[in-house]
Amino acid sequence: MGRSYKTDAVVLRSIRFSEADRVLHLYTLERGRVNAIAKGVRSTAMPAFAQSAGGMLSDEQVDAIVTGIRSSWARPGVLDGAHPPAYLAQQKGDPARGKSAFGTYCASCHGAAGRGGPQSGSIVDGSYLALVSDQYLRTLTIVGRRELGAPDWRSDVPGRPMTDQEVSDVVAWLASQRPDVPGQPYPTAQPFAGGSE
Ligand code: HEC
Repeated sequence: MGRSYKTDAVVLRSIRFSEADRVLHLYTLERGRVNAIAKGVRSTAMPAFAQSAGGMLSDEQVDAIVTGIRSSWARPGVLDGAHPPAYLAQQKGDPARGKSAFGTYCASCHGAAGRGGPQSGSIVDGSYLALVSDQYLRTLTIVGRRELGAPDWRSDVPGRPMTDQEVSDVVAWLASQRPDVPGQPYPTAQPFAGGSE
């Protein structure tokens, strides 16, 4: 029998993902703040996990996973006083402002046009941009990838953390370069010279 979150938790915020499932931010007595997506996110690769939504996990198993993730990886207080930009964009980004913010925060490693530099490859390659979502780019810009040497939002320019708006703008500029038909024209394609084969 599925347990109703209404009796166990207070809903802090409920976010709709286009026509998809809701993401619930809950506050529970036992576990503090929990973000729940038991039903998956439709039109993305995020499947439903709860049995009640057609997935393979019982409520107890979902609980065990959440508890395990928290106890293994949560680092309470690590962001105290840091004010990171919101996980979901709070406002529309502007590509023109994004280009200039990219110059300030990113160009030193990725090159003025994002095509790569001494420390990294191109991040404006059409095939790359076709493979990643705007949310992925936003998350990456905020949290970085420490294991690869990609800085988080406050370490691109030391002492000058990116604002929420700047993150949205940089993502808008990157996204504006995503081609309609990725991977084409084929780089080695020769124009058809005519004649019969
Ligand atoms: C100090 C150097 C440095 C700065 C500054 C920097 N990056 Fe990076 N970034 C890296 C490195 C190193 C990687 C990993 C190597 C690679 O992907 O080429 C990386 C990877 C990336 C990737 C690809 C990640 C993936 O695996 O999908 C994106 C997108 C990216 N950076 C965006 C940005 C944006 C946007 C900014 C500015 C807000 C920025 N970076 C600033 C060094 C930097």
